[in-house]
Amino acid sequence: MQIYTIGGPDCTPRSTSHIDLLRAAEYNAGMELMGKVVVVTGASMGIGEAIAKVFADHGAGVVMLSRDAGRVEAARTRVGHPERTLALSCDVRHREDIDRAVSLTMHHFQRVDVWVNNAGHGLLDSVAELEMAACRDMLDTNFFGAVSAMQAVIPVLRQQGGGTIINISSVAGHIPMPFHAAYSATKFALNAIGKAARVELKRDGVHVLTVCPGYVRTGFSENAGRGKDVKQVRPGSVRGISAERVARATLKGYLKRKREVIVPWTMHIPVKFYQLIPGVVEWAMGRMAG
Ligand SMILES: NC(=O)c1ccc[n+]([C@@H]2O[C@H](COP(=O)([O-])OP(=O)(O)OC[C@H]3O[C@@H](n4cnc5c(N)ncnc54)[C@H](OP(=O)(O)O)[C@@H]3O)[C@@H](O)[C@H]2O)c1
Repeated sequence: MQIYTIGGPDCTPRSTSHIDLLRAAEYNAGMELMGKVVVVTGASMGIGEAIAKVFADHGAGVVMLSRDAGRVEAARTRVGHPERTLALSCDVRHREDIDRAVSLTMHHFQRVDVWVNNAGHGLLDSVAELEMAACRDMLDTNFFGAVSAMQAVIPVLRQQGGGTIINISSVAGHIPMPFHAAYSATKFALNAIGKAARVELKRDGVHVLTVCPGYVRTGFSENAGRGKDVKQVRPGSVRGISAERVARATLKGYLKRKREVIVPWTMHIPVKFYQLIPGVVEWAMGRMAG
């Protein structure tokens, strides 16, 4: 028997087993997420919005958080599924905002199964020129915000007998990026805390996944802070991947209970290179920075 994928005139026949496997994976994802509640920080745009959408599309209840109530409500409208999504204002730099988001989620859905620490921004500057106030502010969001949220949600997950924490880190958490060094430092720190917590929380049935995207086409660059010494260390030819691709990889990593997802997979190459022969990677980045 031949089955045709949807796609118009150029649709190609595929074997039943391939399609069956895809359908089975979709079905399993739907079954796994039905009735689950997912909270996403920084969900008003970009990767956070895409993660909220992919989980909602697979049947989960989703709580979307961002600093701006209007912006995150607009994102909720784009995500759809109004009957099982909620948008709340929450600045992850303030523990009281996080606690309020947890208690409103419990009030509305009576549970939290997955907490995604996605809120974050960049800061482009050299180490020599870096403004300390801007650096601390970024740490407050990218690192302390995630740690505060973990501390707020771990007791809930423990009480429920398990759950998942997903930290959206970066390839910059594996390769220190010149002229984006402080941002890299926040992501190295996030990788360390997530991977250590994974071991600590295993006995409680709480799973921790770290997601490390490479360059993603979002408003991230425009939303990054800019200091005095801004230089690009990404080849101009790199177009980046979509936020939706990161979201799909995150969902897959969650379903497979992975410890880490690096997306796109080609980013494993520079990460491995940096571990084995860091001098070569440093030389290449130095050339790009001019
Ligand atoms: N784009 C990339 O190339 C890339 C690559 C690797 C990793 N990442 C990581 O992916 C995550 C999402 O980035 P993105 O590309 O989607 O960037 P983005 O489009 O600029 O989105 C950032 C999100 O974070 C929220 N946010 C910022 N500060 C916040 C705070 N203090 N409290 C709560 N929410 C806050 C923003 O919402 P409001 O402004 O509405 O509060 C927005 O929803 C970040 O952690 C980033 O480091 C991005």
